[in-house]
Amino acid sequence: MTMSGITKMTAPPSSAYKIVDVPEAYAEVIKRHGIPGTFVGPSERESPWVPFGPNAAIRHLLFDARHNIFSNILWMKSAGVIGTHKHRGTVVMVCLEGSARYLEYDWVAGPGDFIYETPGLVHTLVSDNANGVKLFGWLQGPLEFYDDKGNFVETIDVWWFINHYESYCREHGIPINKQLYI
Ligand SMILES: [Fe+2]
Repeated sequence: MTMSGITKMTAPPSSAYKIVDVPEAYAEVIKRHGIPGTFVGPSERESPWVPFGPNAAIRHLLFDARHNIFSNILWMKSAGVIGTHKHRGTVVMVCLEGSARYLEYDWVAGPGDFIYETPGLVHTLVSDNANGVKLFGWLQGPLEFYDDKGNFVETIDVWWFINHYESYCREHGIPINKQLYI
């Protein structure tokens, strides 16, 4: 504690390897209305790789229909292109493996690199890496996809992502994993 009586945390205040009860004035309200967190493990049964064109797949991790939020891992299996798209919301991405870039920018994302995208951005995702790329993404709001002439093709949002996941599960006899829905 400082002279002013204000505590400043500079390190975790406890290293006790145990569950600690903490005060909560609204525990009953949280019990009634709180939304549990989720966990999705690595197996195909928990969430399969769903093909997205001939050279890519999406592993869905979360759908939040209230806020049009969806999270997933995008896997480009070798060098290739994911078509030009426009964002109507925000995207947080971390490159997990391989590398990727946008034709419109001068950087290349490799493992551990962080990408943030904002409404109005239009860009074309490519991987020049023979091993492709895996990108973790947390996406809020719709994306519009365009063909190579700049013609609008489709807006994809949380409903598109849910349908992408569920239709593949139905076709392959994989049970719908409720952990993906918050
Ligand atoms: Fe994007």
